[in-house]
Amino acid sequence: MKSFLSIRDCSFDQLNELLDLAHSLKKLYKSGKRDLCLSGKVLAMLFEKTSLRTRASFQVAMNDLGGFAMNMKPDDIGVIGQREPAKDMARVLSRYVNGIMARTFAHQTILELDRWSSVPVINALSDWSHPCQAMADVMTIQEHCGKLPGLKLAYIGDGNNVARSLAFACAKFGMTFICSSPANYELDAETLNTANAIRKGCACQNNDPVAAVKNANIIYTDTWVSMGQEQEKAQRVKDFQGFAVDEKLMAHAPKNVKVMHCLPAYRGFEISDGVAESANSIIFDEAENRLHFQRALLKYLMGK
Ligand code: CP
Ligand code: NVA
Repeated sequence: MKSFLSIRDCSFDQLNELLDLAHSLKKLYKSGKRDLCLSGKVLAMLFEKTSLRTRASFQVAMNDLGGFAMNMKPDDIGVIGQREPAKDMARVLSRYVNGIMARTFAHQTILELDRWSSVPVINALSDWSHPCQAMADVMTIQEHCGKLPGLKLAYIGDGNNVARSLAFACAKFGMTFICSSPANYELDAETLNTANAIRKGCACQNNDPVAAVKNANIIYTDTWVSMGQEQEKAQRVKDFQGFAVDEKLMAHAPKNVKVMHCLPAYRGFEISDGVAESANSIIFDEAENRLHFQRALLKYLMGK
């Protein structure tokens, strides 16, 4: 595997190997030991959008592994494709660094960086997908629920980048995925068809969150207004009424259901403060695992 662009494009064995590595590195670091496999290596981090978890966890992970992470925002380097084409940036950076991580609006920008770069490229969120998030989520589900096959994940809210990566992850790991969204905010048919082609019947969608959370092992939600959709906020808040993960919805779910959110969470919108802070919520374990998964990913891609 040269790069990590989408869970869809990775084999089950590759994903499983990454997860095993993430668990073992987590244990190693918790025991106070370190693995300096990236000593002297540099990761360029390109951000078109804001970030707390992704930026901090990649930077800490590089540092933990003995390497260095260089943060670059449009203020420093210009908007990708405007000051200079992505293909030029990719070829220049390939001569300086050992890996490129990018968070972009258009997914095409990440594909373009990867096409022209001779070093690994990591998708750190695009408008289309968020694979690092979904892999940290799977790791968290393993820790809290045990074996993955047969588990049911009910995603409530916007059929967005996070939902898409979760659909692919569920398909690869033997979980059932249901996306419950208001009309016009569903996951696209191509995503559901792709998930169902990976594993027949694993992914579906409805417009009824109460039905979706029945028998769920995990309830997952994300913001109704993703980065870049800020102008649509008023309309979206109106359209998503009835799709909040709140006490009312939780009353229809199994008592021991786990609640997940990639964060940042907008309390009072897609999730209530009470649910986010409840014993069902595993959102901070989930956030922590971004660091553990990304250490594994960096070692896997750049530690050769
Ligand atoms: N979940 C996530 O990717 O968070 P950030 O946007 O803060 O990186
Ligand atoms: N769907 C959100 C995820 C943020 C981590 C967004 O794209 O803004």
